[in-house]
Amino acid sequence: MTVEGRTLPLLDEGQMLAELRALRSRQPVEYSAFYSSQLNGIVTDPALMVLPFDDHIVHRGHGIFDTAAIVAGQIYDLDAHLDRFLLSADRSKLRLPGSREQMRDIIIQTAAVSARRDGSIRYWLSSGPGSLELTPARGAEPGFFVMIFAGLSYPERWYTEGLRVMTTTYPIKAPLYAMTKATNYLPNVLMQMEAKEAGFDNGVFIDEDGNVGESSNMNVAFVTRHGTLVHPKFDHILSGCTSLRLLELARAHRDRAHVTGVEVRDIPVAEARTCREMLLLGSSIKVAPAIQWDDQAIGDGKPGPVSKALLQLLEEDMRSGDRLIPVPY
Ligand SMILES: Cc1ncc(COP(=O)(O)O)c(C=O)c1O
Repeated sequence: MTVEGRTLPLLDEGQMLAELRALRSRQPVEYSAFYSSQLNGIVTDPALMVLPFDDHIVHRGHGIFDTAAIVAGQIYDLDAHLDRFLLSADRSKLRLPGSREQMRDIIIQTAAVSARRDGSIRYWLSSGPGSLELTPARGAEPGFFVMIFAGLSYPERWYTEGLRVMTTTYPIKAPLYAMTKATNYLPNVLMQMEAKEAGFDNGVFIDEDGNVGESSNMNVAFVTRHGTLVHPKFDHILSGCTSLRLLELARAHRDRAHVTGVEVRDIPVAEARTCREMLLLGSSIKVAPAIQWDDQAIGDGKPGPVSKALLQLLEEDMRSGDRLIPVPY
């Protein structure tokens, strides 16, 4: 951004498009297709994946989102993600631009146009443009956006060697905001930045009662000394679709998962620190072991059998389970 010694140009449409393309060529991205209800269609040129600045999702954070995975040409667990999307919309007092079926169909069509066989689908609902106020502008039409992209990638070492996490110094979101997948991720962003700056891989929120909450964009679970898989209650954190599915899979396959039982309850930090294994769970990370928390090793400081077994169960479910929608490429 240079302004010294020159008058800022007043751009025409062509120049603006050229600048948007120049921006993308300076910083290549892996976005394969983008649907916008405001454009009434799909674009595949990342330079065209834009929305009006005055949409309240941009300047007030009045919007929600969710993310599902595309695995080998099929969309995994979309209906669970859509259920949560609708819950988030309701909690955020956002109007829907159409029916659930229409949004589902748009997501599937956008995935098909992208030609991407492995990656992520992220979709947003916005309050819409029309003013710089707080409450939705008069006549604002809610926006629905769908992005098909490569997905978040994490280092292989997270799975082979395990992650190192730290207790964040940032306060956990109040339950209503933690349970709503809104575009207000400031605490999550700050937590992750803080952890990286301190030489860790990620952070962990602890609630006001001293119970474990969640991580930046993933849930946290533990294996107790007695072999029980324990997960924090979902009344003060996001209901992770991956966690919910893994809890089901672990209950159904206790032997394969190497667990003696499954519990969802408050987990005091002091108890969590004595656990054999600590797991990070989410659509992008899937299942990864944490082997160090602050200055303390978890278990014997090596990835444990449960994290490996749960990753395998999840990967099977993502490839050949009963929650897959084939993308009509
Ligand atoms: C704050 C937070 N917690 C947990 C999760 C894990 O949820 P899921 O398994 O649905 O990806 C996410 C990711 O969406 C998240 O952003």
